[in-house]
Amino acid sequence: MKQDMIVILDLGSTKNAALAREIRALGVYSEIYPHDITPDALKALPNVRGVILNGGENRVVDGVAVDVDPAIYDCGFPVMAVDHPTAKCAKQFAALPTEDELRAFVFDDCKAEANWNMKNFIADQVELLREQIGDKKVLLALSGGVDSSVVAALLIKAIGKQLVCVHVNHGLMRKDESESVIRVFRDEMNANLIYVDAVDRFLGKLEGVADPERKRKIIGAEFIRVFEEEARKLEGIEFLGQGTIYPDIIESGTKTAKTVKSHHNVGGLPEDMNFELVEPLKQLFKDEVRACGLELGLPHSMVFRQPFPGPGLGVRCLGAITRERLEAVRESDAILRDEFEKAGLDKKVWQYFTIVPDFKSVGVRDNARCYDYPVIIRAVNTVDAMTATIERLDWDILQKVTDRILKEVKNVNRVCYDISPKPTATIEWE
Ligand code: XMP
Repeated sequence: MKQDMIVILDLGSTKNAALAREIRALGVYSEIYPHDITPDALKALPNVRGVILNGGENRVVDGVAVDVDPAIYDCGFPVMAVDHPTAKCAKQFAALPTEDELRAFVFDDCKAEANWNMKNFIADQVELLREQIGDKKVLLALSGGVDSSVVAALLIKAIGKQLVCVHVNHGLMRKDESESVIRVFRDEMNANLIYVDAVDRFLGKLEGVADPERKRKIIGAEFIRVFEEEARKLEGIEFLGQGTIYPDIIESGTKTAKTVKSHHNVGGLPEDMNFELVEPLKQLFKDEVRACGLELGLPHSMVFRQPFPGPGLGVRCLGAITRERLEAVRESDAILRDEFEKAGLDKKVWQYFTIVPDFKSVGVRDNARCYDYPVIIRAVNTVDAMTATIERLDWDILQKVTDRILKEVKNVNRVCYDISPKPTATIEWE
């Protein structure tokens, strides 16, 4: 990393990530470290220009206020303190500084250069990845999600065909999703891509399984099994690529954070498959991951893809999955996405999709009684997916989507709009 860096030391603030993002928005790279970092470790970090001691609501742990090693002040970096009065700081603030105050500290006190941008990041990473990987091979599970797609594009730029991507189609992808992974990566980026058609295998395992948690477990476990089988067929793989991003690292634990979530990864691969990890996005926030993807030439639709659960349409085809209802979910979802895009709602609404339950209702079609499935529309907005509000959709768009679903989707005779917030409803139905 050649870029200048402002180090944030976490003294119990809940706003470390927000502060890091603000500094990065000024064009200066910033990372968060625990308050008890040693002065030697701090000095060993590359291109540090200044330090912010970021205190806050979780400062007191087990009755004692956490503090930094006083020798931190003698490392030769300008220090700014938030909620941490001390005579040794260049600047002190009772609460988070304003943008102007932050700008003054970063540029006037620290003399940092605004050289954090995706072009520089990519150039740095390409060099680092080539150094780390040499002439070895890297394996990557490429789902088509934002993070794995950007990791793939970055690795292709760095090591080309030494990257082996495996895309597993479990049959629960949205319409044209697997095809677009093949088109973008194999056809346009000339990647070494193994496409595994595991549709029958997954649907076979899921046959008759109605319990949502069992469905999730089967899909997750089967995914690892398929991926492992493919990995065992390959030779000379020493690295495993992963789409870990900075929030995963932050959430996996600072000394004062209240909610500690374990760092998620592909996981589950057997111990004897001894891969070293390659995680080139682990310094980036989600919006930076997207900017990086665009800079690498990935299509807008892939980079701004809405969140999609790992078990895919499997948790939107309620109860025991049947191919008939799965197709109704896939087709109605494609119509909803198409109409949202035409109306510009794809840029506004956080997550939107359709659900097909496992019961029928009576209707009338071509002057005759019909007995078919309903389609339920869901469109929600949220910041962190912990709570959500519904999008107040215009009547016109609801009407348009309904007309198209009733006309184009087989085995469906009714459309409903779910207006339940979370809580009490979750975003997904299963
Ligand atoms: P809920 O339904 O819990 O969803 O309100 C919150 C967010 O998480 C997504 N979600 C999942 N993502 N595996 C995932 O990777 C899952 O099993 C899963 N279940 C829900 C959901 O789409 C929403 O964005």
